[in-house]
Amino acid sequence: PTITFIDAQGAARSVQAECGQSLMTAARANDVPGIDADCGGMCACATCHVYVDTEFLSQLPAPGDGEEALLEFVDKAQPNSRLACQICVTEVLKGMIVRTPSSQR
Ligand code: FES
Repeated sequence: PTITFIDAQGAARSVQAECGQSLMTAARANDVPGIDADCGGMCACATCHVYVDTEFLSQLPAPGDGEEALLEFVDKAQPNSRLACQICVTEVLKGMIVRTPSSQR
């Protein structure tokens, strides 16, 4: 499915993500800036913090305990904050828009 990342400056990048991979992996594979993923997807660094389009937020499984705990410490957390490494890409996410925080470039 196509997923669009928009950075804090408004620059949009659409990527072809594959079902079963994480949103973070899809971003890294397509050189999306602002998703450093320092911990490699272990839910430990929060450098994959994104804001999920509210339309799609309800389509995602709720964050697990580890993700929720980490999200409490991220800079500029919002109700639609998620960690991209904890989101599994599925066909349902086709057309989803996620934004990266201004603190991540
Ligand atoms: Fe580190 Fe997601 S890649 S928490």
